[in-house]
Amino acid sequence: MIHDDLHSYEPRGGHGLPHDPFNAIVGPRPIGWVSTRSRAGQVNLAPYSFFNAFNYVPPIVGFASIGRKDSLAHIEETGEFVWNLATRPLAEQMNASCAAVPRDVNEFELAGLTPVASQRVAPPRVGESPVAFECKLSQLIQLQAADGQAVDTWLVLGEVVQIHIARSLLVNGIYDTAAGQPILRGGGPADYFALGEKFLMRRPR
Ligand SMILES: Cc1cc2nc3c(=O)[nH]c(=O)nc-3n(C[C@H](O)[C@H](O)[C@H](O)COP(=O)(O)O)c2cc1C
Repeated sequence: MIHDDLHSYEPRGGHGLPHDPFNAIVGPRPIGWVSTRSRAGQVNLAPYSFFNAFNYVPPIVGFASIGRKDSLAHIEETGEFVWNLATRPLAEQMNASCAAVPRDVNEFELAGLTPVASQRVAPPRVGESPVAFECKLSQLIQLQAADGQAVDTWLVLGEVVQIHIARSLLVNGIYDTAAGQPILRGGGPADYFALGEKFLMRRPR
């Protein structure tokens, strides 16, 4: 079937809908739950759904800071961050950690989470999260539009230098994605998803 009844629009001119569908379409997205520590020792935790993995060897993950936020400022100072898996049991705490609070407020305390010392980087990981990646900044890129105009968004890319996985998520040595209960972000002000159907499909030879 070819779709011919389309709502088509130029984003620069507005979407003409009650809600911008963009991030509902590119979804559900994994969440980059990022902990950082400033040079002075201030700890920060915040979720970023413009997040993904970009490379296997070395493993590289990245997230976009829309505007200059505390996480970005800390990473610029120290070159380090930790990615923590946001899970269904930790959904409320993840949400609490996004509150726009002054820079000296520690979101670990705000959300009732336990900071646990990392091995290779200074920012702590979320002790309650079953998976964490310790990361070192590899590239920091300010985004630009097609016309070259600078955008107030920074893409933070980091090499994963240490990985922690709760052994309970390793079934005969295989990481069980569903058992990790990741939460995923949809669109609108409040849409989240949990995992549903899993299906297998091999690449063509
Ligand atoms: C699920 C979720 C996803 C979010 N994704 C992003 C994102 O991709 N980029 C961004 O700049 N802010 C995102 N935010 C908002 C930030 O978490 C929020 O601005 C936070 O206060 C930033 O913290 P900081 O200033 O302490 O670094 C998201 C919030 C939530 C709850």
